[in-house]
Amino acid sequence: MTKRLFIKTYGCQMNVYDSARMADLMAPLGYAVAANAEGADLVILNTCHIREKAAEKVFSELGAIRRLKRQRQREGGRMLVAVAGCVAQAEGAEIQRRAPFVDIVFGPQAYHRLPELVARAARSEEGGVLDTSFPAEPKFDHLPQTSAAPGVSAFLTIQEGCDKFCTFCVVPYTRGAEYSRPGAEIIAEASRLIAGGAREITLLGQNVNAYHGGAPDGGGEWGLGELIHALARLPGLARIRYTTSHPRDVDAGLIAAHRDVHQLMPFLHLPVQSGSDRVLGAMNRRHTTDQYKATVERLRRARPDLALSSDFIVGYPGETDRDFQATLDLVGAVGYAQAFSFKYSPRPGTPAASAEDQVPEPVKAARLATLQAALQQQQRAFNQDCVGRLLPVLFEKPGRHRGQLVGRSPYQQAVHADAPAERIGEIVPVMIRATQPNSLAGEIAGERAV
Ligand code: SAH
Ligand code: SF4
Ligand code: F3S
Repeated sequence: MTKRLFIKTYGCQMNVYDSARMADLMAPLGYAVAANAEGADLVILNTCHIREKAAEKVFSELGAIRRLKRQRQREGGRMLVAVAGCVAQAEGAEIQRRAPFVDIVFGPQAYHRLPELVARAARSEEGGVLDTSFPAEPKFDHLPQTSAAPGVSAFLTIQEGCDKFCTFCVVPYTRGAEYSRPGAEIIAEASRLIAGGAREITLLGQNVNAYHGGAPDGGGEWGLGELIHALARLPGLARIRYTTSHPRDVDAGLIAAHRDVHQLMPFLHLPVQSGSDRVLGAMNRRHTTDQYKATVERLRRARPDLALSSDFIVGYPGETDRDFQATLDLVGAVGYAQAFSFKYSPRPGTPAASAEDQVPEPVKAARLATLQAALQQQQRAFNQDCVGRLLPVLFEKPGRHRGQLVGRSPYQQAVHADAPAERIGEIVPVMIRATQPNSLAGEIAGERAV
């Protein structure tokens, strides 16, 4: 009998990838993915610990899940509840204490053991299975091949974990040490995704450009640039992206890939966090604003139409008005097509959380509003510049209105245009006519599919 599996995913794209792998692992055991938790046999919350708000969401969601679990019980069934991901890794014991009805808690490096954990929890009356170990062998060796159709744009995790230890960040603790998958394994997975219909692949890693995997021929190591060159040789793969990169790991090989590989899209998420050298130093980012600007310049020389995105943190401990002004200056100097910005959130166990000079909440809120206004203005200007231009759009799915499709421009903007559903998966020239708050609208110009 088919069982219902509901997975709710929080956090970054790596969690999205991991959730898809969990579904793949459970499919052979008769679990089919369901759209909601009602009446589910297994509910998995794949969680994020990056900021306090993200972590707290899990506990409020668990309240709702508990009611559904009880209802299932009243109906004579059993719902197993699992908490996965980065909150599970960081606060496994706390979850078991605050939500004892949770049957399984497992970290990001343990999910290849999910079938075994589910079997153990199903056998026990009490539940309470915990697995937050970091295995000696990489989990990727134990994952099944993707079973579901990947979609037009697919994710592929090539690198995991982080050794950088920025003083504000939980990732090195929740995901563990940096690990790069071997090149041959990545090429094989990419080939399967392409065979399943993917035209675009986004290479994922917490520090994706720290990638250094074994080359397939046993001939040393590949950096990200070399991997991108190899992927570009796969027939049918039209677009390559990667995220998230660290400014320190942008090397000559990667810059050359931006120059030479036309499939590599001219859009790069390169988080800088702050424009103050003093704050960057305190954050242990290990680069200065000048070095960041020089890297951006080298990338733009290699690929003049490169558009940039970044993450920013405001209100890091000790951040002064002057430091914050330096961030605004950097935003002005670099020019971003898009960006994310956050108030600093103290995370348990990280060095910055215990700093004495925490910035008061109202100051953080005011700085965030100022920064977001500046970033939004740049984003609007960037989108406005696209009006009247012909952009190649990869159509991904139906749009909000009938007869409309939505796709992505090279710069990752969502683009709506009237087009028949058969054109999903094609790259089509679209004349951009208007900008909307979060997307562009245009008309197909010519029938040429690329
Ligand atoms: N590996 C990436 C970032 C991964 S976390 C990098 O090095 O840039 C994603 C983003 O969350 C970070 O870029 C940062 O802007 C934000 N972030 C991480 N920890 C945070 C914290 N404690 N408070 C607020 N924002 C945080
Ligand atoms: Fe976190 Fe990124 Fe720094 Fe690693 S490099 S510690 S993931 S912010
Ligand atoms: Fe969140 Fe973990 Fe990703 S903390 S951002 S889900 S690596």
